[in-house]
Amino acid sequence: MKGEIQEQYEYMKKVQEINSAKTLKYSIYTMGCQLNENDSEKISGMLEEMGYSKTEDLSISDLVIFNTCCVRENAEDKLFGKIGEMKKQKEKNNTIIAIGGCMMQEEHIVEKLHKSYPFVDIIFGTHTLHKLPEDIYKILVKRKRIDDIMDIDGEVYEGLPIKRNDDIKASVTIMYGCNNFCSYCIVPYVRGRERSRKPEDILNEIKELAKEGYKEITLLGQNVNSYDGGNGYKFSDLLYDVNKIDGIQRIRFVSPHPKDFTDDVIRAIATCDKICKIVHLPLQSGSSNVLKVMNRKYTKEQYLELAKKMQEQIPGIVFSTDIIVGFPGETEEDFEDTLDVVRKIKFEQVYMFIYSRRVGTPADKMENQIPDEIKHKRFDKLKELVESQIEDNNKKYVGTIQKVLVEGKSKNNPNMLTGRTDTNKVVNFEGDEKLIHKIIDLKIVSEHMWYLKGELL
Ligand code: SAH
Ligand code: SF4
Ligand code: F3S
Repeated sequence: MKGEIQEQYEYMKKVQEINSAKTLKYSIYTMGCQLNENDSEKISGMLEEMGYSKTEDLSISDLVIFNTCCVRENAEDKLFGKIGEMKKQKEKNNTIIAIGGCMMQEEHIVEKLHKSYPFVDIIFGTHTLHKLPEDIYKILVKRKRIDDIMDIDGEVYEGLPIKRNDDIKASVTIMYGCNNFCSYCIVPYVRGRERSRKPEDILNEIKELAKEGYKEITLLGQNVNSYDGGNGYKFSDLLYDVNKIDGIQRIRFVSPHPKDFTDDVIRAIATCDKICKIVHLPLQSGSSNVLKVMNRKYTKEQYLELAKKMQEQIPGIVFSTDIIVGFPGETEEDFEDTLDVVRKIKFEQVYMFIYSRRVGTPADKMENQIPDEIKHKRFDKLKELVESQIEDNNKKYVGTIQKVLVEGKSKNNPNMLTGRTDTNKVVNFEGDEKLIHKIIDLKIVSEHMWYLKGELL
């Protein structure tokens, strides 16, 4: 495995030599979840090693990478639209176009690309990301299109270069793949089975990040609490060990699965002072009937029970969640159950999705699909409830003192600084730029739908 990465470093060097007399630019367009964002950071790391520098401007790019997602349908139209736009530019500038990520693990998509977009140079999958240097080398030398997709699960590769998007918060992937096969979800088919990184590789990466000045770490995986570090080393062990790393001040993780939320993890959250007291606990549906068909392996009651247990054992704990509306067969009564859980838990944040049929998943073959109109109606109703709850939650912050990690200047108002609370709420405030990258106490003076306003004490 080490040898394979070594080999890729040699390709990086060869490409860098070919490119050495030129100033070359790349842009990268990332769709999808934080795991994909983290993969894009690795792609950027490799490209910079090869002598490309980043630009946001597609029209001046010598190399354009699309890192795709296929968890919901709308991503496909968006991708094909973007690639279509690239055709003219390619004819003019000879731009190299590479498409990778989850969607490339779907056969029908790759077929469509071959047929309708033959000008795409490189197609790579989720298991062959590390081979991008070799693919680019071959394109530069042979100018022959390359498909580099593997159907079998890739290894866990260590030691790839990485160029991160942020200099204060960093994501660290702790495991790849998913074994759960929720009946609506494409991820297990395109990301393969669960593979965990070794504890020492993860901890060394985080120690390095701490040295570079990073303050906040988010541990990533499709089901982080089934992390298996070998020899009985579990997710909770990892949490304790990350908590010990000097310099890191905040730890977050996404996503845990409610069915695997064991007591040792609850204890770790309660005990470790750096773990943020907000937990993302994907609900998907509040109806036990729907949950069963979704293959989620918990009931409404078990979910509520788990949240209650955590509230009892972790002072101040709050939750965020993911919810799907309009899953096949969802009745009005089932949907009411979802609203009921939302009312009971009062989530800090809810990521809401309209059910989207995915080819190859069991739910796509179910006959009782819900008409679009009903899906949208339910979505709007849920959204209304969620927004009113967010407003209520925000009110509770006013008058309190919050620890805020200051991220930088506010994008909308350069006279203001912006940061986040432990519970991930955005706080804007007036202050000296010297406060950037520090954790400071702020008094919350007012609330707005998507941010709080704070004042220095
Ligand atoms: N592993 C994570 C989620 C990964 S996908 C977990 O189990 O929570 C992110 C979210 O997309 C899911 O939580 C789900 O709410 C949503 N999602 C997945 N497949 C979907 C589909 N076919 N239609 C609509 N939403 C979907
Ligand atoms: Fe998809 Fe379920 Fe795996 Fe999450 S746990 S990635 S929803 S199959
Ligand atoms: Fe999308 Fe792949 Fe993530 S399908 S949600 S980018 S794992």
